[in-house]
Amino acid sequence: MALPPQLRPLIGTWRGTGSGHYPTIDAFSYSEELTFRDVAKPFLVYQQRTWSPEGKPMHMETGFLRSPTATTVEFVLAQPTGHAELAEGTLSAVEGGLFLDLRSPQLLVSTSAKTVEATARTYRITDDRLSVDFSMAAVGVVMTHHLHSDLVKA
Ligand code: HEM
Repeated sequence: MALPPQLRPLIGTWRGTGSGHYPTIDAFSYSEELTFRDVAKPFLVYQQRTWSPEGKPMHMETGFLRSPTATTVEFVLAQPTGHAELAEGTLSAVEGGLFLDLRSPQLLVSTSAKTVEATARTYRITDDRLSVDFSMAAVGVVMTHHLHSDLVKA
């Protein structure tokens, strides 16, 4: 089966910068590169890497994005921090692009990892720009914003 056409605007490598915060930590900024790759299957392969302003590697994650219907998405994600997300949500067309709104109401969390109870992600494409937001309920804090980044297609 071929890639659902509604996922095509995501294909490519996106680069830019982001900032993060959470009530329990100091605010930080980072640069980011993420790729959605077409592998001639009905899903995209996702890889994301981030670096501190000094160039030191920070968070990274990898996964698979599926779109079982024209308006729904499923994102399976693995993190080296001992977290695994299965985020589900909606895909909608917006002026000049696409909007994905995903929630993972529970995660798999390893015994050594920090507690993350739920996550929420949005991906908004407008022309060649992609903005990403990530929130989480973690370490005893209710669902709260953690990350925002603005990327441009390479
Ligand atoms: C804490 C960066 C994505 C969960 C932190 C900290 C930084 C950071 C700098 C504070 C220092 C530390 O504990 O290492 C980032 C970056 C991300 C990212 C750059 C991606 C762009 C995520 C994701 C999750 C997550 C996807 C969950 C699935 C957490 C948790 C903490 C944390 C649980 C600990 C908060 C605490 O100890 O109070 N993150 N993070 N982060 N992050 Fe993220």
